[in-house]
Amino acid sequence: MTVDPIDKKEKLFPSYNGNNENLLILLNKTSQVICKWFSDGEKLGPLPLDVNFKCSVPDEYGNSTDILFSEIESLIYSSFNPVHPGSLAHLDPPPLIISILGDLIAAGLNNNLLANELSPSISLLEESICKWFSNKLGFSESAGGIAASGGTLSNLNALVAARNKAGLESDKNAVFLISEDAHSSFLKCCRIMGLGKYNLIKVKTDKNGCMDIVDLKKTIDKCYEEEKKIFSIVATLGTTIRGAIDPIYDIGRICNERKIWLHIDGSIGGIFAITNIPIHGISNLNFANSITINPQKILGITKTSSILIVSDIEVLKKTFATGLPYVSSESYVFNRGELGIQGSRPAEIIKLWLGLRSLGLQGIEEVLSSSIERRILFENNLNKDLYDLYSGPLHIISFLPKDMNKNESDKWTENKRKSLMKKKFMLSRPLFKNRYFLRAVLGNFNTSEADIYELLKLLN
Ligand SMILES: Cc1ncc(COP(=O)(O)O)c(C=O)c1O
Repeated sequence: MTVDPIDKKEKLFPSYNGNNENLLILLNKTSQVICKWFSDGEKLGPLPLDVNFKCSVPDEYGNSTDILFSEIESLIYSSFNPVHPGSLAHLDPPPLIISILGDLIAAGLNNNLLANELSPSISLLEESICKWFSNKLGFSESAGGIAASGGTLSNLNALVAARNKAGLESDKNAVFLISEDAHSSFLKCCRIMGLGKYNLIKVKTDKNGCMDIVDLKKTIDKCYEEEKKIFSIVATLGTTIRGAIDPIYDIGRICNERKIWLHIDGSIGGIFAITNIPIHGISNLNFANSITINPQKILGITKTSSILIVSDIEVLKKTFATGLPYVSSESYVFNRGELGIQGSRPAEIIKLWLGLRSLGLQGIEEVLSSSIERRILFENNLNKDLYDLYSGPLHIISFLPKDMNKNESDKWTENKRKSLMKKKFMLSRPLFKNRYFLRAVLGNFNTSEADIYELLKLLN
């Protein structure tokens, strides 16, 4: 088949002078497929029981959009559905509608946050939104931040900056401290930074899952005795398994006395700090040198959406800037690809900005506080004679049947997760302190009180 080269061009790329009819048709069709899938959620449940999707690889000649659409549908209908009210397993809430649009706009613009000349308005947007966050957290004018694709990368940006600031970039005795309940990705950070397990030191947690300050002090003393050099202490604001918050005030004072960089991993709980929701332990965040906030995990900004705020933006510049010899910019312009590990970066800030603008502070507070209300409802009504509960002030709760040995409870959680899934409730089964738990993450705005009572009926 011969295709008019102009026509083919219009089918492959947006036109700069035509009416983009083909693109409009396809966008419309895509919207319809996605919206239909959302609407089918009730009968489909959170996770397809059978994944029928088969991956087809590129052929010699390109395929028609009709063929592609049948493959797209198959892909979509074999996907996890975060919109279903029974999706309570992970930190992956339903996407805010406006942030879906944000992703579409970012894809359409295809700008690059590497350099100002590739994203003049969006670079400004990212700088301004990070500044807004740093003001909200109580940082001074020297603060600023950078978006990254996920919490792991934001934490890594922070740790590399902390080590650099301490002048320990090639010191084998450089260590950082986390609590034993901190996220597993810190081990990954260690590997990327050329450090070993030896350089990652774990501090005990207390019965509430918070970093134990007595053990922290002992650990610091021991590090100094062994001539280890601490470049950062990481406080977790919302642990992955139970949403515990490390004592930031106490850790901050210790860091201040000893001139150690305090990083707060607020991937889960950091976003609560921009609201007036009273949560024990969320204060004094401006004691930190850096804090990670991941609006993808609870606010519903589509993945990925993470920002790192630092109290002194110059530290990020000194750590990461190499110069961009292939980019021409005025001397007063600072290219934001020089502030972190990633080079080319998508305009993820657009969906965060739109999400915040569309919700407003009241809407943000409503979304976040409703998640805590759901956790409280679930926690108050889960039968305490049957289960040991592990929770904190946020929206996450893990539990385990009482009076079972490890083998029995591991089996029980496995079977229970499967049986709940058949009833369209998806909980997760994390391994924690060498046992498998069931975990409910109640950040799903679509989950009603009635849904929670339904789930409780299946557990109590
Ligand atoms: C406390 C905490 N920190 C960091 C991360 C890593 O975030 P991401 O998956 O966005 O890289 C997670 C992920 O769940 C987390 O729970």
